[in-house]
Amino acid sequence: MGDYMMKDVFPILSREVNGHRLVYLDNAATTQKPQVVIDAMADFYSTSNANVHRAVHTLAGEATEGYEACRITLKSMYNAPRAIITSGTTEAINLVAHAWGRANLSKGDVVVLTEMEHHSDIVPWQMLCDSIGIELRYVPVQDGELDMDAFAVSLEGASLVCVVHTSNVLGVRNPVEKVISMAKENGIRVLLDAAQAVPHETIDFLELGADFMAFSAHKMCGPTGIGALLVNEETFAEMEPFMGGGDMIETVTLEGSTYQSNEHRFEAGTPRIAEAVGWNAALNWLGEQDLSSHHKRMLSAARSVSNALKERGITVYSRLGDGDAAVVSFNHPTIHPEDFARLLDAQGIAVRTGHHCAQPLMARLGITGTIRASFYLYNDQDDADALIAGVDKVLEAMA
Ligand SMILES: Cc1ncc(COP(=O)(O)O)c(C=O)c1O
Repeated sequence: MGDYMMKDVFPILSREVNGHRLVYLDNAATTQKPQVVIDAMADFYSTSNANVHRAVHTLAGEATEGYEACRITLKSMYNAPRAIITSGTTEAINLVAHAWGRANLSKGDVVVLTEMEHHSDIVPWQMLCDSIGIELRYVPVQDGELDMDAFAVSLEGASLVCVVHTSNVLGVRNPVEKVISMAKENGIRVLLDAAQAVPHETIDFLELGADFMAFSAHKMCGPTGIGALLVNEETFAEMEPFMGGGDMIETVTLEGSTYQSNEHRFEAGTPRIAEAVGWNAALNWLGEQDLSSHHKRMLSAARSVSNALKERGITVYSRLGDGDAAVVSFNHPTIHPEDFARLLDAQGIAVRTGHHCAQPLMARLGITGTIRASFYLYNDQDDADALIAGVDKVLEAMA
């Protein structure tokens, strides 16, 4: 599909912002939705809306089928034995901390994290540290990359490694294959934060060999409020229910309860039904895209932005290697990131500023935030050129 056609599939991209064509470059925060996803959700509410699992009537059957279809797609697309549906990456990681961590870790057990993690892969572990006394070790970042020598040392006696596959700040794709094989050689479980990875590459979960993989629908053309935790069978068997309530039980008496043995065990209460229908549509749509050729095009557009910024004396933190996501994080020596982003917004260009929920990485880089332009499937060289022209206008205005 050519770029022109691709933009047509996303209705929001035809709107104007502040009198200009919208140039949406905040995709690492959330992506836009193709018409098929919007239609699938509207269609569900218009024709099949009901609760799942509990009733024999036709609509309940359709709602259940719609919800479970998302799980079936997740399992087949990522080759995952188990797919627990959550509200997103954040809930998926918290679920690991509660359902696996509390059942399998105790005082003094070591969890290895990296300085590159999103807050959602730091704070749940710090909370577990406060409540049961686990020890946290952080792998340092050197020149924007994981220090693999320090990683090797950190594995000594560890129980779990939690690592971000692709950084939301720098776009750096970590050497996850190596990270996993080193952890596995030492009998250590691995949790992969794949929030910024699955939008750009299809991952074979079993082949990659992690025990847990967390990601969010909204970063891959799906709706907000839904995500998944993929788990292998061995680790799934070690997880204890965390949230109690309807749907996750087999029997309840006043004396006690028994729980479902499949993924429903971890999905208490009414789940995200319309969102699952929308995500399934997004996954199927993404499955038809040639992600690797989109990736090359996005990287080339991002590199042109990076080069132009450097030529203008602006610091770029992203390395944009072949496997990295097309994310350009940058700072001007004197213009405040928020002023910069507001002046871009006045030209219809959406970028993100701030610490991007990665304050420890910011501390390592010696800054408090960046301006971040992140590309996705519908972005093209026109968008990169619009950003460069927009930057020139900002520089002119602030000169
Ligand atoms: C790398 C990474 N991990 C985790 C998250 C958290 O995702 P969510 O807010 O969808 O739970 C994000 C979102 O920005 C992210 O980029």
